[in-house]
Amino acid sequence: MCGIIGYTGKNAAKDIMLDALETLEYRGYDSAGIAICESGSEQTRIYKCAGRVKDLRNLCENKTIEGNCGIGHTRWATHGGVSDENAHPHKYEKVTVIHNGIIENYRDLIRKYDLCDKLHSQTDSEVVAAVLSHFYTGDPYSAIQKTVLKLKGTFALGIIFEDMPGFVFAVRNVSPIVVAKTESGTMLASDVTVLGQYSKDYFVLPEGHILTMKADGAELCDMSGEPVLPEWLTISWDTNRSSKGGYPFYMEKEIMEQPEVIAETIEPRIKDGIPDFAEDEIPDSLLKDCDRVCVVACGTAMHAGLVGKALLQSLVRIHIDVELASEFMYTDTIVDEKTLVIAISQSGETIDTLEALKYAKRNGAKTLSIVNVRGASIARESEYVIYTNAGPEIAVASTKAYTTQLAVLYLLTGRMAYVRGIYDAGRAREFARELLRVPQVVAQVLDRREEIHYIARGILNAKDVFMIGRGLDHSILLEGSLKLKEVSYIHSEAYASGELKHGTIALITEDTPVVAVVTQDKVQSKEFSNIREVQSRGAEVILLMKETYTLDKGTSWAGIFKLPAMRDEFMVMPASAALQLLAYYVSLDKGLDVDKPRNLAKVVTVE
Ligand code: F6R
Repeated sequence: MCGIIGYTGKNAAKDIMLDALETLEYRGYDSAGIAICESGSEQTRIYKCAGRVKDLRNLCENKTIEGNCGIGHTRWATHGGVSDENAHPHKYEKVTVIHNGIIENYRDLIRKYDLCDKLHSQTDSEVVAAVLSHFYTGDPYSAIQKTVLKLKGTFALGIIFEDMPGFVFAVRNVSPIVVAKTESGTMLASDVTVLGQYSKDYFVLPEGHILTMKADGAELCDMSGEPVLPEWLTISWDTNRSSKGGYPFYMEKEIMEQPEVIAETIEPRIKDGIPDFAEDEIPDSLLKDCDRVCVVACGTAMHAGLVGKALLQSLVRIHIDVELASEFMYTDTIVDEKTLVIAISQSGETIDTLEALKYAKRNGAKTLSIVNVRGASIARESEYVIYTNAGPEIAVASTKAYTTQLAVLYLLTGRMAYVRGIYDAGRAREFARELLRVPQVVAQVLDRREEIHYIARGILNAKDVFMIGRGLDHSILLEGSLKLKEVSYIHSEAYASGELKHGTIALITEDTPVVAVVTQDKVQSKEFSNIREVQSRGAEVILLMKETYTLDKGTSWAGIFKLPAMRDEFMVMPASAALQLLAYYVSLDKGLDVDKPRNLAKVVTVE
């Protein structure tokens, strides 16, 4: 939540900041601002406003903003409403800061340093600028060290001192900062998506270290001032993946990229026809010696976990729980050294998932994470990591990250079944062969996207939508329903179809469209009975079903989409792609900002 950027070098900081903030906007889009060290003077100028980066661009237009060093911020409001004053950067005397995170003890700090009448905003972040200023006597390191000792909470701070033009300092706790040396200077940002167009090499600022950026490079020291060498990493994805590539929205582009990125996630992990994690350095003992699996994740990633649960439970016959990361620690979940805790996260920065992982480690569990962003906090915190190869996901609504997480869960299922002796080599190869078909089957669904676009009109004007299915169909509908809610603002509920008649069917009327997914042979006849129950109450039903099923004559449907057939456990993949398109087209046809739904942000770094 919140995107931060810092630059110092030879080029105009304003242009670099504004472009970078546009790329980072998916992390928060309530307000935006930049601070520039003005050339030729020891002055820091701030331009900020409530609204999007395009509003900030308008504000900066026709102004002479000269300077080669600055910091910038795009905000997802936590403390203090959305207003010009609460937008970052915040300046207090000589100190200007941008902040991502939450300072939990900001009220105590206001009292301690007698700041009550001296602040201009309602944010916790301005308090940090004031405390830094309190300690600043010309030595930035000493001011940062002393301030950090006073802060409780999470923070990624970019700092400039007015009398040190050309320098940007940074420090962090939990919230991420990455740093790159570019052709024209040095840059920091909240994530690598923005750095990719300037440099392939970057490093993650370690927690509890101070970063000093100058035009000719970056230096690191620990809190006692000892120099530390950064650990350089390389951006592994094609940087074109960060652009819209001709699509009107990132969400559509990312949905369309799925065949490619799913293949890139699966293919390198099939060796001799069998799922294999040797290159990820995952020992078979990790998958063999556990008695229990526990998945921790949030939102879409948690929904991927639910599919993983159905797969592992039925194919590996292992006990598996899926826990909401935000509840994990507060419900005294039992984990021990025989538990394999799997954290799933696209960003690798979701604070609830990170904290759940730390809790699992403290309780002796083995930890494995499935993460998309390389070097992210969750990946570094867990003992083992498997990266999804989805590339940058910019649209706030997750699509390709979800299906690549599923791809990894299929691989894990296949490998676990093999190393635990449930599958012999022949059955493991059979499983992997079907998995390798997934990209092509998903591509078939995407090729027929106009059919889904047509069907989507059936829910365009709905106030409420129900989604029903059983077993795996229910698991994927939970995700399909979340997708519809977040991008179309239509209230939607996913229900296990057998559960409807225990209460919720009271809400079904002719004004409540129902989306039904039927792909599982063992429950299909029951699913069709449940569909008839809602049809009898007047509901119009959109049906997504496996192409091999036959329908009763004389039943009318609001829309039918026949999904290309796979083995039952793999039907999740084509069905998910179809549900993503359904949500996308509803949002598109409603004229909404598909990539940036209201109130949301891509990376959730507050609890
Ligand atoms: C919804 C969505 C969110 C995320 C959730 C976890 O489309 O993207 O529900 O899945 O915030 O985020 P990560 O995967 O980054 O931990």
